[in-house]
Amino acid sequence: MVPATAGRSLIKNMSIFAALLLKRMLIARTRKELDSFFGRAGRENRTLGLVPTMGALHQGHMSLVSCCNSENDVTVVSVFVNPTQFNDPKDLEIYPRDLEKDINMLSGSGCDVVFAPDVETIYPEPDNRVFNFGPLERVMEGKLRPGHFNGVAQVVSRLFELVKPDRAYFGKKDIQQLAIIRKLTALTGLPVEIRGCDTLRENDGLAMSSRNMLLTGEQRKNAAIIYRTLREATLKKELGVDQLKTWIADTINSNTLLKVEYVEIAGSSDLQPVTHWAGSEAELVICVAVRAGNIRLIDNVFFSNFVLL
Ligand code: PAF
Repeated sequence: MVPATAGRSLIKNMSIFAALLLKRMLIARTRKELDSFFGRAGRENRTLGLVPTMGALHQGHMSLVSCCNSENDVTVVSVFVNPTQFNDPKDLEIYPRDLEKDINMLSGSGCDVVFAPDVETIYPEPDNRVFNFGPLERVMEGKLRPGHFNGVAQVVSRLFELVKPDRAYFGKKDIQQLAIIRKLTALTGLPVEIRGCDTLRENDGLAMSSRNMLLTGEQRKNAAIIYRTLREATLKKELGVDQLKTWIADTINSNTLLKVEYVEIAGSSDLQPVTHWAGSEAELVICVAVRAGNIRLIDNVFFSNFVLL
């Protein structure tokens, strides 16, 4: 276990619990280091929240950390770029990684432990588990990125087994991932409360994402059209479901730097597409995936009776 801040040798010799009391942030790279933290600090009656991330942290992650801090005694942030959830090897290769920067961002945030394992710690042997999420994995991201949610489920269940959190925090930008993880806990019986937190946006409305830093200046500027279009769409009472989807795709595609992969309008909890307004779930979500060059951006808005939620 290595402390993130100065005074390494001093802190190293202190009990981990004392370090925690002093609000030092600790970094665990292995299962042994993590277990030694829990062994020495003891869980007793303290609640533990986990914020799973793939690093390249931004303010969106920090808002999950602060939500976690406010609801738990101990906050653990995991940083692990999970190879099993990338169905495109190129995407895995270019995924931004900067652990030192992440640690700097987290120190002083109230995070107690950064768990930054290597692949062998998460997968001591190949993970061949196949989960069945039913219709949930057959739409949108699940349909376009085969194996993606199975990989997410593998890593999240491993993190839950290793960290044993009481609660875990995920962003609503990845609304389908959130639904999958809720289903995962139901399927596996892992006793973790899943908390969904609102999407944080840049000033121009673009949803915060680690992938934003891979955009060129021009792509970044133009990407703001995605959220603008989604907001405007929620006011278009005069259009039917299919017409609205077409309007959204056409509006975004009219920008030559952006290319829509899908637009879906679905019930906000089951994420199953609706075809008519009448009889559809009261709360709906419009989800989009858009490519800006090689970079894939997703976003969504929740609405009910043509009022943005
Ligand atoms: O949303 C993410 O960053 C990842 O999918 C997660 C949940 C950390 C699993 O790798």
